[in-house]
Amino acid sequence: MSPLVELQGKHIVLGLSGGVACYKAAELARELVRAGATVQVVMTEAAAQFITAVTMQALSGRPVFTSQWDARQPNGMAHIELSREADAVLVAPASADFIAQLAQGRAGELLSLLCLARSMRTCPLLVAPAMNREMWAHPATQRNVAQIVADGATVLGPATGDQACGEVGDGRMLEATELRDELIAVFQPKVLAGRSVLITAGPTFEAIDPVRGISNHSSGKMGFAVARAAAEAGAHVTLVAGPVHLPTPRGVRRIDVQSAQQMLDAVLPEAPRHEVFVATAAVADWRPALAAEGKIKKDGSGRVAALELLENPDILATVARLPAAARPWCVGFAAESHDLVRHARDKLVRKGVPLIVANLGPETFGRDDNTLLLVDAAGEHELPRADKLTLARQLMAEIAARLPARPT
Ligand code: C5P
Repeated sequence: MSPLVELQGKHIVLGLSGGVACYKAAELARELVRAGATVQVVMTEAAAQFITAVTMQALSGRPVFTSQWDARQPNGMAHIELSREADAVLVAPASADFIAQLAQGRAGELLSLLCLARSMRTCPLLVAPAMNREMWAHPATQRNVAQIVADGATVLGPATGDQACGEVGDGRMLEATELRDELIAVFQPKVLAGRSVLITAGPTFEAIDPVRGISNHSSGKMGFAVARAAAEAGAHVTLVAGPVHLPTPRGVRRIDVQSAQQMLDAVLPEAPRHEVFVATAAVADWRPALAAEGKIKKDGSGRVAALELLENPDILATVARLPAAARPWCVGFAAESHDLVRHARDKLVRKGVPLIVANLGPETFGRDDNTLLLVDAAGEHELPRADKLTLARQLMAEIAARLPARPT
């Protein structure tokens, strides 16, 4: 699926309560519309002190609602109509006062009223707090936040950083793109709810000297998409990443490494703590036996100094050989240039893993789309060409279907 249509067909009520972060809600409305959603903006009286309904109408393409007495709803029940149409309600920014209203089940304004009137079964409530750090840290706010979470709301953020008041700390509203991605995640099936997934991604870099090394063209995109999809599916995710320039998917714990040995050293203590291990990294097969301390110079002879290479440890095979109690359910990737099935079957046996995901290396490196072939003891199953995030989501469903139940 193209990132442009991730929210296609979804109707979102975007609620604004009073706070400087209302300026970010303008961008958020745009991001949601860009992602294909229809957006109905509802503003509190306080929000209207920070941004105009005209701006929000222009960005959402729909008239804004601000009052429960709005005569536009023929039956006079804006709170019911607006919440029944919605696939989700996202309050961004949510002020300390608005969170207090939610915690108490108050309904003095249209926005709090519709949050109360929505169907808890079909319409999730997402709340993005934005306030001064002292207000956020206050026990009253923390009590209210705990209460709305207990009542079924999802609290997104807040982030830490510079605040409009000049102070620095917790209380910044998440950025528009982060909130958009959180909303997209809400609609993904929670096939890995509460499970834990460890992933390796990207290439490794094996130093020859301080400025050179052996690496490959892996972009890390597939592994990062797997990490995002696993988090969206409800898993706790740890991502061990080689040198790549990709942002960490939200909610994912990331450990950066350079070489294969560092990747193995990072993976080994983590493996027994995870239920699934997905090895997407394109680990360099060899490393120089000795990395030179200084930059190796040309000597003018026209010859290149011989480089002794050693084979790197096989991270996947090492994890797959851990004792059963410490071993996660292992998934390997195989990038081949030909004879996909034969090589994948060979890897299944050689590495001792229950599932190999095969793809054609030259057709995937650095690209945004891919085709995957799942090879296991039961046979082969193709996931046809799609963008890497769509494939990663399908792969999560395939893994969830094969994963043994947790011992009780
Ligand atoms: O042997 P080959 O590199 O083709 O195997 C690919 C699979 O094994 C991938 O899942 C890759 O992440 C993993 N692998 C590894 N450590 C290595 C080499 C490959 O974990 N040293």
